[in-house]
Amino acid sequence: MERTFVMLKPDAVQRGLVGEIINRFERRGLKIVALKMVHVSTEFAHRHYAVHVGKPFFEGLIKYITGGPVVALVLEGTNAIEVARATMGATNPAKAAPGTIRADFSLEMGRNLVHGSDGPETAAAEIGLWFKPEELIDYGRAVDGWIFE
Ligand code: RTP
Ligand code: MG
Repeated sequence: MERTFVMLKPDAVQRGLVGEIINRFERRGLKIVALKMVHVSTEFAHRHYAVHVGKPFFEGLIKYITGGPVVALVLEGTNAIEVARATMGATNPAKAAPGTIRADFSLEMGRNLVHGSDGPETAAAEIGLWFKPEELIDYGRAVDGWIFE
């Protein structure tokens, strides 16, 4: 069973898409194991997006992500990292497949609604950055046997 970090960016909150977006991950079968709303500082945003320091879009990205509260989640399930990113769609909404979150609700790369960890190391680091261990809730769902073989 794999865990991934997902963030609903400030545009998702401002546009009233929090429920719609979380619903897509839930319906996929992914289990929410942590969830909170945060308005991140510039310093924290730099830590989250450290890999992008120096890139031309970096300053705009920091302004975007600190521009309002975000909703942070940890999702668990089979291949959670890959599945969450597939549910989100390509980084550029213009290239995202119809039926994905980014294709269905957004137009521009700099307003693409949602973030998802891109690999196992990133997922572990991001979960550790955003959540304390006690904020990750261990529980089973009655329906798990109909989602996981
Ligand atoms: P994310 O980290 O947000 O899940 O997105 P991603 O892996 O699909 O894309 P990544 O390359 O990690 O870029 C992080 C975010 O930076 C913005 N971006 N803008 N204008 C640009 O060229 C550009 N490139 C990236 C996007 O908001 C992207 O999600
Ligand atoms: Mg990324």
